[in-house]
Amino acid sequence: MKQTYQCTILERAKLSDKTISLLIDASQIREEILPGQFFHINCNTQDSYLRRPISVCDFEKGRLRLVFEIRGKGTAKLAKLNKGDAIDLLGPLGRGFHLPKSGKRAAVVGGGIGTFPLLFLTKSLSFPCDAFLGFRCEEQIILADEFKSLPNVNLILCTDNGSCGYCGFAPSALTEALDAGKNYDIIYTCGPRIMMDCVAKTATEKKIPCQLSLEERMGCGIGACLVCACQTKEKNGQSHMSRVCADGPVFWAEEIL
Ligand SMILES: Cc1cc2nc3c(=O)[nH]c(=O)nc-3n(C[C@H](O)[C@H](O)[C@H](O)COP(=O)(O)OP(=O)(O)OC[C@H]3O[C@@H](n4cnc5c(N)ncnc54)[C@H](O)[C@@H]3O)c2cc1C
Ligand code: FES
Repeated sequence: MKQTYQCTILERAKLSDKTISLLIDASQIREEILPGQFFHINCNTQDSYLRRPISVCDFEKGRLRLVFEIRGKGTAKLAKLNKGDAIDLLGPLGRGFHLPKSGKRAAVVGGGIGTFPLLFLTKSLSFPCDAFLGFRCEEQIILADEFKSLPNVNLILCTDNGSCGYCGFAPSALTEALDAGKNYDIIYTCGPRIMMDCVAKTATEKKIPCQLSLEERMGCGIGACLVCACQTKEKNGQSHMSRVCADGPVFWAEEIL
């Protein structure tokens, strides 16, 4: 049975116009928290009792970091919380990223809000990785310093308009790296579906294992309501419905394509 926790906010920071970072005292959470997992948060909106899913951006020494973009009523309410306030968390939920025990190099490919959970993932890898992170323009870049500070990460920033780093989409930068002879043991991707499909296709062509983190609207967050159902494929090619909240949000590319 999944538990809810009343935790205290230790720090609140505004990272951009619409992006908020909350550092939370999660020392009471005894369960293991894995990269790719999420918490379902009670946003206390008057018109809806539905929680909102937010991925673990970082977790260290009992401190949990959540970074989110203000999209609608729930995240707007969440953004109003301040240092010292309580936050109601259900989790950690879902299946996180697969972390190989050893490897030579991984690639992570993220876009927009999909870059946030990749911070904890890259930090948890025991070998080097190239992080291809895509944003619309320089002003929209979030968490670059945190990625740069990780000793195992080679950061390749990509902007759609070329205002910073590689000019173009992150999957194109990945394809160019592969064409130039780079090899990866595993590729992880999180972001807009069209971007992840592109990464998964490239990885499949190159026969590189690949994981995607899917986003679906959620109800219960614990596998009971089927609001988050999506079509997936079994090893024998048969399709069936999976629950993004409980069977995912992380899936292997061959389960999705
Ligand atoms: C597993 C998971 C992890 C997530 N992690 C993060 C994260 O780390 N940081 C972050 O900023 N966001 C994350 N999201 C997205 C976040 O949950 C939604 O932005 C949030 O629920 C919107 O709630 P709201 O009440 O503010 O907006 P609403 O008023 O409910 O909706 C506002 C707009 O956002 C769209 N929307 C709502 N929920 C989703 C969703 N689940 N996926 C796609 N679009 C949605 C709606 O269609 C609408 O256009 C995650 C979503 C999932 C499923
Ligand atoms: S949100 Fe209820 S089953 Fe996934």
